[in-house]
Amino acid sequence: MDMSKSDSKKQILKAPKGMRDILFDERVYWDEIHKKVNDISQAYSFSRIDTPILESSDIFERTLGETSDVVEKQMFFVKTKDNATLVLRPEGTSPLVRAYIEHGLDHLPQPLKAFYMGPMFRYEQPQAGRLRQFHQAGFEIIGGESDPIYDAQIIVLINRLLRGLGIKNIVTEINSLGCKACRLNYKRKLIAYYKEKKGKMCEDCERRLALNPLRLLDCKEEKCLALRNEAPSILDHLCKSCNIHLKQVLEFIEEMKIPYRLNHFLVRGLDYYNRTVFEIFADGALEQKEAEKHEEEVVSHVSSKLALASGGRYDFLGEILGSRSISAVGVAMGIERVIELLKKYEIIPKPLRKKRIFFVYIGETAKKKSLPIIDALIDAGFNVMEALGKESLKAQLRLADKERIEWALIFGQKEAFEDSVILRDMKTGAQEAIALKSLTERLHKKLGARV
Ligand code: HAM
Repeated sequence: MDMSKSDSKKQILKAPKGMRDILFDERVYWDEIHKKVNDISQAYSFSRIDTPILESSDIFERTLGETSDVVEKQMFFVKTKDNATLVLRPEGTSPLVRAYIEHGLDHLPQPLKAFYMGPMFRYEQPQAGRLRQFHQAGFEIIGGESDPIYDAQIIVLINRLLRGLGIKNIVTEINSLGCKACRLNYKRKLIAYYKEKKGKMCEDCERRLALNPLRLLDCKEEKCLALRNEAPSILDHLCKSCNIHLKQVLEFIEEMKIPYRLNHFLVRGLDYYNRTVFEIFADGALEQKEAEKHEEEVVSHVSSKLALASGGRYDFLGEILGSRSISAVGVAMGIERVIELLKKYEIIPKPLRKKRIFFVYIGETAKKKSLPIIDALIDAGFNVMEALGKESLKAQLRLADKERIEWALIFGQKEAFEDSVILRDMKTGAQEAIALKSLTERLHKKLGARV
């Protein structure tokens, strides 16, 4: 017998690197986010479109840019039996525009407002806030006029969604990448600047200087960051109409009191953008203080440096995909990053805030009458936990303790006979008898309002 084979069979297998199981303790966050995304989509009249998880690799090679990190290093390829190459989608915007063109969705009233939620895949070096399988919720406004009010509306929507999830200190960093004409002019200036610095930047940047100079502004290497500070700013090179577009976006979001800051280094990692680009951070004073206090802890958490959501305008993506230019703007939110932040600041989704009650029974007569009582409690808006398979009172109470449940209902032989139940405060041990017929009303009064 081949021992190595049987040994390897015994090995405990794990989820692939950078991919994770979503266990029940996190479910409540996912449910809350799904609900809030659906609610806000309905409120702003966005309709859901689901595209396949696999797409032809051409789509991303063409739209994201051959020198983007995603296309150069991060795509997961799938070879099919007939030798076609597909990729696990690294993002949702290009597939959505592909679907828009394929199904002739420009025949519907324009602009089309669409949203999606689902897994994306990038072969990244896994670290806090950076996974190989992660989930995005995205909102796109496609077709119609290339009006700055839509850029603003997308920024307003995502700010509202994040705020609605309980996140504070939200800041939108914003920039304009100009149009084809003014960007070309800017690129020339940038190349001239960086050419003089040859030998002073990282290898990647040396290579990208000829291929895609804007990417140099995005490099996180220390020596490149130092060079960047003196680099020409795109904001000084925008043409008149790009300038007006940016100014109007800012005026619209100011009208909505959206906190923002201009960041002329912001270029985004994907190449399909023109004019507005933005990234959203939660970075107020609290986050800063935390960073100073617990440097290590913050490294292992999502730090203020990672965007919770990002997006921009991409009027030429349709053209790149072989159709025509279609004005469009959108945003995608990283769901795992948002959840990590919610957990870090103990922002608890509502369903968890429902009062939890542990139901304890003693003896067979009580057990028989237990299920209707539990159902009535659930109907009244409580979350109920029990251990109806355990006979011993001690074992049941131990579990209630372990789960840190504050209130227990004890239902024994005597109570079953008298149609009552005992409410026990698990912290103080204080108990009171309550008649079954007034139980839910009494509990609402005692434990607080129904959620
Ligand atoms: P993106 O910046 O590549 O843009 O991703 C959007 C968001 O997804 C990021 O802000 C981040 O929260 C999350 N994210 C990205 N990569 C990872 C990762 N490896 N692990 C965890 N979270 C991640 C896009 O994908 C564009 N399609 C956004 C867009 C929509 N532009 C226009 N419309």
